[in-house]
Order: sequence, then C-alpha cells, then structure tokens
Amino acid sequence: MRAAVIHERNAPPVLEDFAEPQALQGSTLIDVDTAGLGGWDVLGAYRLGVSYPCVIRGEGVGHTTDGRRVYFGERSVQPFGAWAERTVVPSEEVWDVPDDIDDKTAISMGIAATGAIVPLEYAKIQQGEKVLILGATGTLGLIALQLARHMGAGRVVGAARSEQALQGLKSRGFADEVVCLGGDNDSAALKEAADGGFDVVLDLVCGQPLLSALKATNWGARIMTIGTGAGRKIELDIADLLFRNLSCIGTGQRPPADRQQIWQRLLRIAKEREIQVDYADYTLDQAAQAWAAQVAGPHAKITASIRRS
Ligand SMILES: NC(=O)c1ccc[n+]([C@@H]2O[C@H](COP(=O)([O-])OP(=O)(O)OC[C@H]3O[C@@H](n4cnc5c(N)ncnc54)[C@H](OP(=O)(O)O)[C@@H]3O)[C@@H](O)[C@H]2O)c1
Repeated sequence: MRAAVIHERNAPPVLEDFAEPQALQGSTLIDVDTAGLGGWDVLGAYRLGVSYPCVIRGEGVGHTTDGRRVYFGERSVQPFGAWAERTVVPSEEVWDVPDDIDDKTAISMGIAATGAIVPLEYAKIQQGEKVLILGATGTLGLIALQLARHMGAGRVVGAARSEQALQGLKSRGFADEVVCLGGDNDSAALKEAADGGFDVVLDLVCGQPLLSALKATNWGARIMTIGTGAGRKIELDIADLLFRNLSCIGTGQRPPADRQQIWQRLLRIAKEREIQVDYADYTLDQAAQAWAAQVAGPHAKITASIRRS
C-alpha cells in the first residue's frame, strides 16, 4: 500500500510502498479516506522509543471492512498510521461518524477540540471572566477562543508570535485583543490586553510565554497547561506563586470511552455553535509538503485526502 513513511528521527516523510497492516485481536482494519496532522504527530514521530520505519500516525476518517464510516485518533498500532491507504487501530479508539458530519469536522473535533474543551470546562469560566489563550494562532487555539466565549468569558485574548495570524483572529472577531509575544515586556503587554489580569489561561506552549502569563493573572486564576511548543522546562521564580493566588492544572490524559463521549458532544457543539476551523488541504502524494508546513506552523488544520478518487 502507499504510505507516508518516516525512516529516522528528524527525517521528513517519504511516500513509498509499505507493508499492509493485518487484523489483530481487539483492533480494527480501516481503509483511510481523510487524514489529519497536528503538532503532536511531529513530536510523537521523533520521540524516544519510536521504531523506524513508521507511517505518520495522524488521526483520520475511513471505512472498516464491514462498511462503517469511522473516526480514529492518533492511536494506530505502530508502525501504522492515518497517512496510508490502510491502518489498524485498537477497536475502542474507532468511533462511528454521524452521516451529517464531514470528514474534516470529525477530525478537527478530535484531538484539537478535545484538547481545548476539557481544560476550559475544568477551569469553570464564570460569566464575564477574562480568558487568555497562549498559542492562539493554531487550530486548538482558534477553537478554544470560540469555546471560551460560548462558556461565558467576557474578554477573550489570543497571544502567539505571528502578528499577521493574530491580527486575523482579531479582525474576524475571534479575539477581543491580541498580543504578539517576544517584545520587551510581554507580561505588561498581556496585562494591558486583559485590562488588568486574566482569570483563566489556556497554555498551549509552556516555556517563557507561560512565565510571562503567570505575572498577568488575577487572584484565583486557573492556568490550564496542555502543550509544550515553547519548551517543556521553565525556570520558575517561586515569588510568582508565593505572592499570587492561582492554580496550575494539567488535564492531558483520559480513557477512550471518555474521549469518545467528549468527541460526540463536540460534533453537536460544532454544528450548534458553528465553530469555525481553518484548513490547509493536501493529498497523500504531498505528505512531505504537509509535514514541512506543520513543522513551520501552519496556522490551520492540515488534512489530506488519502483515497484516490
Ligand atoms: N494535552 C492535550 O490534551 C492536547 C490535545 C491536543 C493538543 N495538545 C497540544 O496543544 C498544542 C497546540 O496544538 P495545535 O494543534 O494548535 O498546535 P499548533 O498548530 O502547533 O499551534 C500552536 C501555536 O502556538 C504558537 N507557538 C508555537 N511556539 C510558540 C512560542 N515559542 N511562543 C509563542 N507561541 C508559540 C504558534 O503560533 P505562532 O506561529 O503565531 O507563534 C502556533 O500557531 C500542541 O503542543 C499540542 O501538542 C494537547
């Protein structure tokens, strides 16, 4: 079968023939129609313990051998993945897609939207509170800005590095204010954008942006941290906790049945609330370009049509 294959750590994918997956006990074979790509796939492909060659794992929508149209997350049995004509996935991670949901919505409401709604609901946003999305210009950030507003936030601010992408979020009404990080005093810029301080911070990047955001919080702030694009380690001045009143919470992992229920709920929310997602569409043949775009920061959800029409 045709597949986008990674041969070694830090190498881009190559389109080539790859061994067919076999049906395994407790797993489901899937003919892939559409694949998605996220920052986590790049991190995951180069993680210690991955054996090569392997297919780009990704998430996707396809058909089972008995004709079900299904969504599956980035849980393909290694070395298989969504960026191939076929994959094999643990059956508990294979969820039926309703007929009125298109492939790309099923994918974007998977890992990205789940990563946004779980911490935002955990933060229990009160009516009128001020919410900061750190790393707002990606797919998860765009969905999080919309969900935070629906949950009652009074002021929603997006921060990242791309001035152009940030201005797009503001001009399209997704963010009330935006902050371009990397200036002389990011904490002051964030405080100004908050008109005081933030009650909730959804942190998609960690690193220096998280340290800057800590200084721009109100009493009782909830910092929800779910991503590491700006670094996994921070040098925290304990004064930023001692002389404040806040909690820092991680919500990254939960069992498949919980994730399936959340995804089903998100499919309804996406329709009812008309949640908007920006897409960048590729084909399987263009896997290397799609990968390079993801590494560079696509400011959009990358998808690829896999089945040849
Ligand atoms: N724990 C979970 O449940 C869960 C679920 C899904 C995703 N995640 C994580 O959430 C994160 C976001 O996902 P995504 O798909 O939206 O990723 P993405 O497309 O890579 O977007 C992240 C955004 O963060 C910004 N960014 C990156 N490095 C930055 C830095 N050093 N300083 C400031 N901003 C920076 C980038 O915007 P600019 O180019 O404008 O700077 C980028 O658009 C990823 O790390 C992912 O692994 C976690």
